[in-house]
Order: sequence, then C-alpha cells, then structure tokens
Amino acid sequence: MLRRLSVNQPEEFSFSKTNLKWAKAQLKKYPKGRQASAVIPLLWKAQEQEGWVSKPAIEFVANFLDMPEIRVLEVATFYFMFHLKPVGSKAHFQVCGTTPCMLRGSESLIDICKARINGKQHAPSADGSMSWEEVECLGGCVNAPVVQIGSDYFEDLDKVSFEKLISDVESNKSPVPGSRVGRFSSEPSNMTKKYSRKKSSSENASIERYRG
Ligand code: FES
Repeated sequence: MLRRLSVNQPEEFSFSKTNLKWAKAQLKKYPKGRQASAVIPLLWKAQEQEGWVSKPAIEFVANFLDMPEIRVLEVATFYFMFHLKPVGSKAHFQVCGTTPCMLRGSESLIDICKARINGKQHAPSADGSMSWEEVECLGGCVNAPVVQIGSDYFEDLDKVSFEKLISDVESNKSPVPGSRVGRFSSEPSNMTKKYSRKKSSSENASIERYRG
C-alpha cells in the first residue's frame, strides 16, 4: 500500500527537553558511525510525543542522525506502526484484520469502530478523540483477536469487551492491557486457572512487562 505524508503539516518539530536527553542517550548504544540505527526508536519517540510522525519530525530525525531525509522518509512510510497523519487525541485503535484475528471475530470489532468512531479508517471521531485502522498481523495471533493502542495490546476481545474498551477510553479511564479472558500470557484457555494460582487475577504478562 502506498503511504503518503499528510497534506497538513506543522511548521516545525523538536523533541521536548526530556525526549532530547533520551535521544542523545540512545546514540551511545551504537558504534561510532552507526547512529543511523537509532532511526526507528527516534521516530517512535517523535510519535509518542506528537501522536503522529510529521514531515518536520522526519527532517528533525534525519538531521539528528546525520542521515539523508529520504532514508528516514523511507523508514517512516514503510512501517505501519508510524502514523503519517494526526490520529485521535485519546486513542488510535489498530485492529488486526489478518486471518487468525478475522476467524476469531475481528470483523465485528471493525464494525464497532465504524459505528462508534468513524465509518472510515484513518478518520477521526466527531470530537477528534479517537480514530482507528485495520492493520496486518500484530504478532499476537494466539490471543486473537487483538487491538493495539500505542504500545499496548488488548487481546482475546469480543464485541462486549471491545465496546467496554472504547467506553473506557471515552471516559478517560486507563484500560489495563492484556487478555480479556483471564489468560496470563498465551497459555491454553483451559489452563488459565493453573496460571491464575500464581498470579492475581488483575495481572497478566503485559502488566508484568511494565513492572520489569
Ligand atoms: S493475525 Fe491478528 S495478531 Fe496475528
């Protein structure tokens, strides 16, 4: 699919003080002359800061890493994880529509997005707070169907749990990432009890990841 930059662009981009410090620290991870390897983390940080990746952000990252702008543009337009136009201010729902998720009901999740957010993907809801898109496999097929918001995965969704997820976002709650059927990670569903003996019911592997 051809991915183009938004026709509406901000005048400029620069990292916040905190993110600039973080970006400079990233450069130290790579051997001298290989700093261009930091292009994906830096674009991701730009997206975390602004919600999407603008042309000025691409130019900023290119300048920061001493790379030709066209090479950063290639990366930003190749990976679907980078949003090339503004997304919902509260959440952008990336709904997996690949076969395992589709067989487990992702089409009904897309219907909900159309009804509650916008009939078209990549277009904002009426108040601009939410947007959605159908994406290819998110790599969480065992817990299909899966929806990604930012860095968080919401798994084992069905119509009811997805409606609740949207409602929670609407009302400024912070939905807990992870399985919606009590799985700790991706164990067989008939083994959730065994795992829940080790973990409290409010925990799952996604939360464990945050706690390190
Ligand atoms: S098919 Fe949906 S996560 Fe892989």
